[in-house]
Amino acid sequence: MKNIVVFGGAGISAESGLKTFRAADGLWEEHRLEDVATPGAWQRDQDMVLRFYNERRRTVVTAQPNAAHLALAALDQHANVQIITQNIDDLHERAGSKNVLHLHGEIMLARSSIDETLLYDTHGKDIQSGDFCEKRSQLRPHVVWFGEAVPLFEPAAALVERADIFLVVGTSLAVYPAASLLQFVRPDAEKYIVTLDLAETPRRDFVWLKEKASTGVPALVAEWINPPFD
Ligand code: APR
Repeated sequence: MKNIVVFGGAGISAESGLKTFRAADGLWEEHRLEDVATPGAWQRDQDMVLRFYNERRRTVVTAQPNAAHLALAALDQHANVQIITQNIDDLHERAGSKNVLHLHGEIMLARSSIDETLLYDTHGKDIQSGDFCEKRSQLRPHVVWFGEAVPLFEPAAALVERADIFLVVGTSLAVYPAASLLQFVRPDAEKYIVTLDLAETPRRDFVWLKEKASTGVPALVAEWINPPFD
């Protein structure tokens, strides 16, 4: 079976009703990222940071996977599929995908602010000021903030190197180190991007399908499952 690696971002969940970051009505238009998504923000105003992520979690709980998530989950029956997502939502898992790596963390998990190995399921509930880990420190969302290390970057890069087919979906490729994962794709791999806009023109060896995830991804998946005669 082929190794298919999918590298995704906020655009794949946009049609499930979750806002992207860099659109005109995106999350970073509504909030200064320095106020809610940095270690400095957490030092200055834990309540504001908790409120921001509690709101995100509430919208994720009510969102449903869309046709793009579902098509990728169905592909598990036909190939070794590895999803590497920058998204903190759990829509791939709820669609049924088996192998999902969350490069920027998971909103449904809370974590100790003094011991990053202590993780707790929020069960979709808010994290409140005064919710402590077993070491008596405040719980924070299990997400990677700007300025923090990306602990799963190296495992993700190793997965990208194994791809026979590499698909990028719904990411502006504006954020590093995540975007540098593209450097690890083998030259002989088939490479596709399904996204509406990009921070820069993509490399020439990528086929850019400039369309919505909910149509572009199922179309590609159908082609991989039932290859046309050539
Ligand atoms: N289908 C496909 N692509 C879409 C759709 C859609 N329905 N809607 C929007 N897009 C595309 C946009 O054109 C854009 O290229 O999704 C991309 C979203 O880009 P960003 O908002 O920059 O989100 P993302 O790339 O996931 O951001 C990366 O930045 O803010 C941080 O940690 C956060 O993980 C996030 C990282």
